[in-house]
Amino acid sequence: MTTESISLDELSAVVIPLLEQARQIALAPEELEIQTKSDRNDLVTQVDKRIEQFLAKELTEITGYPMLGEEGHTLDSFAGRVWVLDPIDGTMNYVATHRDYAISLALVEDGIPALGIVVDVTKGLFYVAQKGKGAYCNNKKIDVVPDKLPYQDAVLITDIKEICAIPRLKQALVDSRGHRRYGSAALELVEVACGRAGAFVHLWVSPWDIAAATLICEEAGCTVTRLDGTNMDVRQKGSILVGWPNVHSSLLKRLVQDPR
Ligand code: IPD
Ligand code: CA
Ligand code: CA
Repeated sequence: MTTESISLDELSAVVIPLLEQARQIALAPEELEIQTKSDRNDLVTQVDKRIEQFLAKELTEITGYPMLGEEGHTLDSFAGRVWVLDPIDGTMNYVATHRDYAISLALVEDGIPALGIVVDVTKGLFYVAQKGKGAYCNNKKIDVVPDKLPYQDAVLITDIKEICAIPRLKQALVDSRGHRRYGSAALELVEVACGRAGAFVHLWVSPWDIAAATLICEEAGCTVTRLDGTNMDVRQKGSILVGWPNVHSSLLKRLVQDPR
């Protein structure tokens, strides 16, 4: 298999066992070597790097597609099919809380996610979506999200950074069913896709944080945009507002379009 003609079903069948092997790498007990990157809370461990090396080697050998990976794999171009990988999304959780971290892998075709897989490592949950074919969790179809509820009737996920930076967000959270934060953008998006939270707001996500999970959200009926309501482009870093359709539009109106 070395051509663009490999079907998404064939790719899923190959990739999911590799992701289970990567999950076992993450779960194997060992002393962590922790390094900081851009700031004291931006962490990487030898396990992040090992998982990325393992998946990059296997996926490149099998498919020949290039990879964008957080821990060192770069792309010349997003033309055609490329892999986008976050080997551990939620490294602070991996180091500190030992739960709520994910492996996120997307196949992106000409800049659009076609296959997205987010693995909740400690729970053993594999969230999978193919464009146009719905979203699944461990092979069970994820129900389409509610489309009529406003943000006041939903739990919302965001971080203290966003609450400090967007003054209107604070009151929106007060007016909602409550505020949550898990520490892995990929898992937080999946919470919205699965109907457990109505929206996720983040000011600065990278392609590897969201390429897989935005497809899972879209396939579950969520609306995915930048915080100002413009189209999402998973090739670029930037903000994200993902929500059930009416939670998204009512929150967008409250935060950006028609703030009271
Ligand atoms: C981080 C997590 C975190 C989000 C950060 C990301 P990492 O990813 O998704 O929840 O707030 O913006 O960088 O560094 O753990 O892969
Ligand atoms: Ca990471
Ligand atoms: Ca990440």
